[in-house]
Amino acid sequence: MDQPAEKKEVQFSEGALAEIRRYMSHYPADRQKSALLPILHIAQAEFGGWISPEAMDKVAEILNIQPIEVYEVATFYTMFNLKPVGKHVLEVCRTGPCMLRGSDQLIQHLENKLGCAVGETSADGNFTLKTVECLASCGTGPMLQVREQYYENLDAASADQLLEDLKASTVKKPWEENY
Ligand code: FES
Repeated sequence: MDQPAEKKEVQFSEGALAEIRRYMSHYPADRQKSALLPILHIAQAEFGGWISPEAMDKVAEILNIQPIEVYEVATFYTMFNLKPVGKHVLEVCRTGPCMLRGSDQLIQHLENKLGCAVGETSADGNFTLKTVECLASCGTGPMLQVREQYYENLDAASADQLLEDLKASTVKKPWEENY
């Protein structure tokens, strides 16, 4: 009989832990669980753009809650990736207003350019292509999001330029940025 894969414990960096503590300090000692969503975002940024079961267990340990409480939240929200992703995750809005402004064509173009379908990662590991619902930038569609950044009014040429720029960029963690 196959044995279940052994879980490896993960560790947050000092920078990530400082950010986690900052969020936890916003809540009373007996309400620390309220910091769960921002801490999951930190975990996703810390561990390569996705949240493994080991990372969820670590979050549960930090917040002193049951792992199932973390699993429930992480699996509910589509902004959390639960399997490995590329260096950049392209989240293309496909809701009505963006569709009317060409999101179908943009998605098709990206699929062709990246050589992968929606939900997949390009062979070079640089991009995971996802579709999402309205990102509240309806007047500037078609658009996509990469981490906290919006890219709007995209066409084939500007999308190609964006891919090149992203490929050449370094992914910084939010707590490494000056904001
Ligand atoms: S429909 Fe795309 S941002 Fe609203």
